[in-house]
Amino acid sequence: MSELTQSEQKKLVGFSAIDLLIDKKLLLSGMKVGLGTGSTAMPAVQRLAQRINDGTLSGIKAVATSFQTSIMCEDLGIPVYTLNSREIGGQLDIAIDGADEIDEKNNLIKGGGAAHVKEKIVEYNAGLLVIIADESKLVKDLGTQFPLPVEVIADARVPVTLALEKLGAQCMLREGVRKAGPVITDNGNQIIDCIWQRNSEGTSSLDPAAMEDIINDITGVVENGFFTKKRPIVFIAHKNGTVEQR
Ligand code: 5RP
Repeated sequence: MSELTQSEQKKLVGFSAIDLLIDKKLLLSGMKVGLGTGSTAMPAVQRLAQRINDGTLSGIKAVATSFQTSIMCEDLGIPVYTLNSREIGGQLDIAIDGADEIDEKNNLIKGGGAAHVKEKIVEYNAGLLVIIADESKLVKDLGTQFPLPVEVIADARVPVTLALEKLGAQCMLREGVRKAGPVITDNGNQIIDCIWQRNSEGTSSLDPAAMEDIINDITGVVENGFFTKKRPIVFIAHKNGTVEQR
């Protein structure tokens, strides 16, 4: 059998996760569900819509983490609310999303799609966080290959960059594609992407849990893409067509 491409793995894990969560009774009718952003989360949103349309699930209330996701929900007929809506009341039963990097303790980097602020608000307020990814997202050390996104207020770009450099990061302002100048997030802010070097032994001493707080203490930072405070269930799709839970 030929190996699955990365995009096939994303679809496989998105579809399988929804079906497995239903089978395990972790995703039930009437639940309030946070929906992530990106090319792995979108197949999960599509599968959720299919399982609503085939009558398996009813009364699902979704909260989207980005414009991408709310448009997808609207297109597919999934009722979408905000975390502040009366129907949601600030708390979700479950949230399902992709990730950019996953370490051995299931700490994450997210924000490759510049949506990590709403993702973190939604996912830290969900009873259960489910992360879905293809096997390329598994890493030993966070932040040495895929850059950590830090969302900043535009006026604080330079002082925040200096503070991040003091923490050992190499920083780059994220540039728009088919838009001149920086990426502007769904919240109207900018993104500084940060990468740390491994030491001469090829290891990293970066502590993602400590760094999540230290970076958020810098004045002008809105939120960073380390997700260490909510232990997720992780589903990983492999090239050989299997899906692993860890
Ligand atoms: C968006 C995210 C995404 O979950 C992350 O970037 C993974 O994206 P993809 O599934 O497209 O690889 O955090 O802000």
